[in-house]
Parts: sequence; C-alpha cells; structure tokens
Amino acid sequence: MAYENSKHIYEKAVKFIPGGVNSPVRAFKSVNKEAPIFIKKAKGSKLWDEDGNEYIDYICSWGPMILGHNFKNVIDGVREAIENGSSYGLPTKLEAELAELIIKCCPSMDKVRLTTSGTEATMSAVRVARAYTKRNKILKFEGCYHGHSDALLVKSGSGLLTDGYQDSNGITEGVLKDTLTVPFGDMEKVSKVLETKEIACLIMEPVPANMGVIEPDVEFLKFVRDICTKTGTVLIFDEVISGFRLSLGGAQEYFGIIPDMTTLGKIIGGGYPVGAFGGKEEIMDLIAPVGRVYHAGTLSGNPISVRAGYETVNYLYENRETIYKKLEEKTKYITENLKKLADKYKVPVCINTLGSLYTIFFNELDKVKNLEDSLKSNTENFAIYFNTMLDNGIVIPPSQFEAHFISLALTDEDIAKTLEVAEKAFKKISEK
Ligand SMILES: Cc1ncc(COP(=O)(O)O)c(C=O)c1O
Repeated sequence: MAYENSKHIYEKAVKFIPGGVNSPVRAFKSVNKEAPIFIKKAKGSKLWDEDGNEYIDYICSWGPMILGHNFKNVIDGVREAIENGSSYGLPTKLEAELAELIIKCCPSMDKVRLTTSGTEATMSAVRVARAYTKRNKILKFEGCYHGHSDALLVKSGSGLLTDGYQDSNGITEGVLKDTLTVPFGDMEKVSKVLETKEIACLIMEPVPANMGVIEPDVEFLKFVRDICTKTGTVLIFDEVISGFRLSLGGAQEYFGIIPDMTTLGKIIGGGYPVGAFGGKEEIMDLIAPVGRVYHAGTLSGNPISVRAGYETVNYLYENRETIYKKLEEKTKYITENLKKLADKYKVPVCINTLGSLYTIFFNELDKVKNLEDSLKSNTENFAIYFNTMLDNGIVIPPSQFEAHFISLALTDEDIAKTLEVAEKAFKKISEK
C-alpha cells in the first residue's frame, strides 16, 4: 500500500503541530511507523486516507461511531441543525430533550450537565464530589484514563501508556499529592485508602479500556459500591467509553451497580464534541447557578453536537432490543476466530472481550486483569500485527494498550477479510 501523500502531509504537520498530531496516539509512534495515515473521509465501516487507501475501521473515533460513520439519521439531523446556526450561547430545547433521554437510559442519574469533552466531564465531576464531601483527596486506579485534567493524569492509561510513561510532567506537587492510586481489582488497598475517610471520590472506569480492555469482577464492583457508601466517598463511574456501548445504560446497567455520579462522552455526541456528567440530585444541585461549584462552557450543549448526540442515542434507545445483541455477536465471532488463528500459528495471545470492545494482548496470560498484566505484553508482536493489518486495509488502534471498537456498520464481508488478514499477521509473527 502506498502512503506517499500521508508522508508528505506529516512532514508539513510536524513543522506546525507538536508531533504532527492533536492527540498523541494518532502519531503511530509505538507501532514503528514512519508517519501516521491522514484520513480524508469515512462512510459506514470504512475509512479512506489521503492516498486513496480504503480501510475497515476498528477505531471508530475511539468509540463514538457505534452506528458507523455518517449514519443517515445523524447526518440528516446535523444538516438540518446547521441551517439554523452553529452556536448561540443561549439554551435550546434539544438540550433538555437530550438530557431527558440520557437520564431515561442511565439508571444513576437524576440530573446531567453537558460539556464539550470527556475530559471536562471527569474534571467537573471530581470538583463537585470534592464540594459535596468537603474532602480534597481522590482515588483512581492505575492504568485507568479519565482525560487530561491535571488531577487525573496520574498513573494514567491510554496515550501515556502507549508512549511508555504514566505521569505527565507539568503537574504541581500539590495536585499530585491529592491523587492516590491503587491497582485495579485490589480490594485490600482500596479499603486501606478509603477507610481513612479523607477521600472525596473514587473515580473509575467500571470496565477499564485504556490499558487494553479489562473485564471487571462483578464482586469487585459490588465491593467498591459498598465501601464508598460506608466511607462517605462519592463513587464516580467514568462511562465515557462504556456508556451506551456495553448496554444502553452502560456498565452500571450491565452489572447492576449504581454509582453516585457518572461521566459520559463519545457516543452521546455521535462523533461531535460532547461530554456529560450527572448523578444524584443532591450532588448535582451544588452546581452553579443553583449552588457554587462552577462549571461552564462557551460551546457546552452546542446545538450541532446535541443534535448528533440526540439522533445517535435515540436510535440506540429505539433499537435497544436488537443492537446490543448484534454488536456482541459480531465481537464474539471475531474474537473467537482470532484466538483460533493465533493458536494455529502458536502465537501467544490473550483476548479480553466485553460487549463490543476487545483487546488482543500479545502475552501468555489466561486473563489480563490489571495494568501489571497488561504491561507484560509483547509490543513488538503487536506492531507486526498492526502493520500487517494496516498494509492490508484494516485499521486497528495503533497501540497495544487500547480497545478495538466494533460498530453496527461492520459487515460479514468486513469480518471475513479481517480474519483473513489477521491470519497473515499471525503467520508473520510465527516466522519471526
Ligand atoms: C474513560 C475515559 N474517560 C475520559 C476520557 C476523555 O475524553 P475526551 O477525550 O473526550 O476528553 C476518555 C478518552 O478516551 C476515556 O476513555
């Protein structure tokens, strides 16, 4: 496959943008590629780059495109919304309707605020939790990613992990001291920290997906719920990835564990910039103008994003009986067959799957349960896998430590081609 145009664009991009990209994982650094591909357009399950190469897409914009690219209802809605103007800085009817729809789907929420990104959602939720509890410290899990606000960039997953570090520079000692971390799944360490009763909130991805996908033990989720209640700690489920993906009501509905607060993003914007945080009324009513916890945004509740989000969530709501089953079936078929092919070529892999998310870890473990397990993966094998897929028209996350996202648009033909190419990749790894 030729990548000449992408290479030229990259040469220009690095002159004007740090690393040539606006989000680090996009640089393809960890998969030994000279330059990333630059995308020109997308439709359904496919992407096309600036060289005219066609790819089956397993990134799906890191989650939002659950219905596939340029889904008709979303595009029609956005076209109509754009005709009425782009942004007013004043409220609109559809914001209330999207909020109502989100609350109808999400068991933990009485009220919800819209933001422009998942980062703002988690950052604001932490601020509210601190005000509610009048405590300063927060607890998160190693390898979970909650966006790029200072307090949450500690022992972080996603792009940091991809580039081989976990704590960002540029964060003050004071902030670092207030963010505590423990390994995912470690009940004893969670107890020890929360029993101090100094912790405002435990913020967690109920299904970690930023150190690769980790399937949580439901007993662990019950445990965190109970200990947060017992110690007066606000339990925040960061469902920016899992919300509207594992099920309509996210991981909280899937596992039947109700947090005090929830953060959302990605799918609720249908591919446009959105985030949201919500929870119990007594917590949410601390936010200005009702209370004195400040949260605002020039583009919060932007009418185009809200329309795209509304069309997406509404379609998921109306088709909830079939969509999630279909997505799971596709994912199960792909992952079971990937495992069979890897075994055929004696390439050690552990595939963690939940709902329509999966990660293929190139390691010998039966199950990857936390960051320590995830870091045992052979990133060299992953890079061969990635590059073989890319060169044969399949784009997967350019990192061992991210999730593959399945969309409803993925066809049986796409899946057959994916497995055919994966076989080539496993063969190549076995011949190394
Ligand atoms: C679980 C989780 N929380 C928060 C965020 C931050 O969202 P955004 O990138 O929209 O700021 C992400 C982004 O990938 C995420 O995966």
